[in-house]
Amino acid sequence: MKNSKTYKFWQKRYLNIDHNSIVEKSRHYINDPRILYDFNFLKLYISPNMKILDQGGGACIMANMLAPICKSVTVIDYQDIDYSKYIKHSNISYIQKDICDFVDNSVFDLIICLGVIIYIEQDIDLHNFFFNCKQMMGKNSKLIIRNQFGINKKVTVNKYSEELKDNYFAVYRTVEEIVELVELPVEIHDIYPKSCNLYQDTAYRCLIFT
Ligand SMILES: C[S@@+](CC[C@H](N)C(=O)[O-])C[C@H]1O[C@@H](n2cnc3c(N)ncnc32)[C@H](O)[C@@H]1O
Repeated sequence: MKNSKTYKFWQKRYLNIDHNSIVEKSRHYINDPRILYDFNFLKLYISPNMKILDQGGGACIMANMLAPICKSVTVIDYQDIDYSKYIKHSNISYIQKDICDFVDNSVFDLIICLGVIIYIEQDIDLHNFFFNCKQMMGKNSKLIIRNQFGINKKVTVNKYSEELKDNYFAVYRTVEEIVELVELPVEIHDIYPKSCNLYQDTAYRCLIFT
């Protein structure tokens, strides 16, 4: 995976961008309502004794929001950077690893994966990711996937983005494809206002697997 287009894309962004200043200033976070919709939605499923796994947790923005309301947050991300500078709570731990390969003996009450599976190009890797998540779920655990999904069909974007000034690659699979792959009971939620859905062929959805 470290040779994948998406790894290189994210590595470049982490090396070139000061995420602490992003957290403070950027429209992507502070003025972006999505993070608050995510947080308010996730809160409904969190209690103080819960162990949470944040798959592809990046600069720990969500982990820092969740840490005060749960027992612990374990963040997994494959970027080769010093994540300790982003962690603001002692109950957050960070493991640098590809989420498709990550599995351990712990059972997590809640596994979240926000805006990440679109960067997993190969179906076999996505299959491994869900297989591993299921190994880390107990009887009452939940797996929450929040993403843009292709409407009616899978949408692949592989082109230069003027906005990002870089090549951008992402695969927006359909909700149906993901539900079929995970093979767990699912609830599908539409948690964002319509204004957050900027494209005609994709839409944000939040899937809760139990
Ligand atoms: C759009 S950011 C989302 C960050 C965070 N989940 C959030 O909502 O703020 C995508 C993150 O996924 C990470 N990522 C993408 N593919 C990954 C993989 N296969 N294994 C681990 N991390 C991955 C990237 O490094 C990046 O930090």
